[in-house]
Amino acid sequence: MEFQHPIVAAPMAGGPSSTALARAVASTGAMGFLAGGGKTAAQLTEDYRSVADAGRVGVNLFVPDVANTAVDPVASRQRRAEKLTEFREKLLPFGDRLGVEIPTVEQAGANVTDDWDAKLHAAIQWPIVSFTFGLPAPAVFEQLHGSNTQIGVTVTSVAEARNAVEHGADFLVVQGPEAGGHRSVHDPQAEPEDIPLLDLLDAVGDVVEIPFVAAGGIITPAQVREVQEHGAAAASVGTALLLSDEAGTNPVHRQMLQEDRSGVTQLTRVYSGRVSRSLVNEIMELDAPAVYPEVNALTVPIKRAAAQVMDPRSTHLFAGTGYLQARTGPAADIVRWLAGERA
Ligand SMILES: Cc1cc2nc3c(=O)[nH]c(=O)nc-3n(C[C@H](O)[C@H](O)[C@H](O)COP(=O)(O)O)c2cc1C
Repeated sequence: MEFQHPIVAAPMAGGPSSTALARAVASTGAMGFLAGGGKTAAQLTEDYRSVADAGRVGVNLFVPDVANTAVDPVASRQRRAEKLTEFREKLLPFGDRLGVEIPTVEQAGANVTDDWDAKLHAAIQWPIVSFTFGLPAPAVFEQLHGSNTQIGVTVTSVAEARNAVEHGADFLVVQGPEAGGHRSVHDPQAEPEDIPLLDLLDAVGDVVEIPFVAAGGIITPAQVREVQEHGAAAASVGTALLLSDEAGTNPVHRQMLQEDRSGVTQLTRVYSGRVSRSLVNEIMELDAPAVYPEVNALTVPIKRAAAQVMDPRSTHLFAGTGYLQARTGPAADIVRWLAGERA
């Protein structure tokens, strides 16, 4: 796996990673990414058709617990239900305020696989696939390699990096705690490590020989050069592209990224049960159990309705630590600027 360009557009589920963004990024020679999380397999195939002629574009898949070798299969379903019932109660006032129904705990557990098998089948046609949230079995890697797909795995620790290499990864996405959106910790119950990105890159570089890309808080050309000096083949940038013209970032998210000048971001499990970094708002005051993806299913109606009415109090406003420096304008200009090709 070779990275000829220093920039990768990080996959961003929930809208930002539009096909227009992937095409614009790939037009510069950088690698574009689409996000498969929350989409159907049919949508992935449609996405592929929209970007197949665009240059280098990959697709990212969330690894559900059922396919994640890092998950302990004896985790008790009963305890999950209790925790979810308690959390659901706390969501009711938010639902009432927005006039939406919160799913029952049973309904929230209806699609815990995120259509994994069908999506994996659809992923076979893509030249590049990356996995987030976990590590599938080596057989999955063999299957994708059989169709000449290059496979990346997002890791947040040296141990995860080692395991990903053993399973057959072609490249790693080393994600530091500065990252906007979800941390890709492989064990969903574990608390994420707090090793700053540059130190994590050094530590991973000491133990792996495959190429790795750096992600988390990278928002200036100087930071791109810095991660390269720490061994990264490229910088994977998310927040840096959220305000670009082509990103499908929703209007309230765009507005808050520009209006909230506090520079403060916080970690929360409230949006999905997994840890994510976001601008701070009211719903993040709630404690949420580490039960993914059911917590996501419970909060979806609130997040959607709040975004629709431009209410920033209860929708996810994912942002990396560098969000104050995110630029507006065409994505290709932002990518060229980050790569040091234009002022
Ligand atoms: C809005 C948003 C959505 C994200 N969705 C995904 C996703 O679907 N898959 C994934 O692997 N990472 C996702 N991430 C994390 C990014 O891929 C990347 O690790 C992160 O954006 C890097 O940090 P930065 O935002 O400071 O550049 C998301 C990040 C953001 C900001």
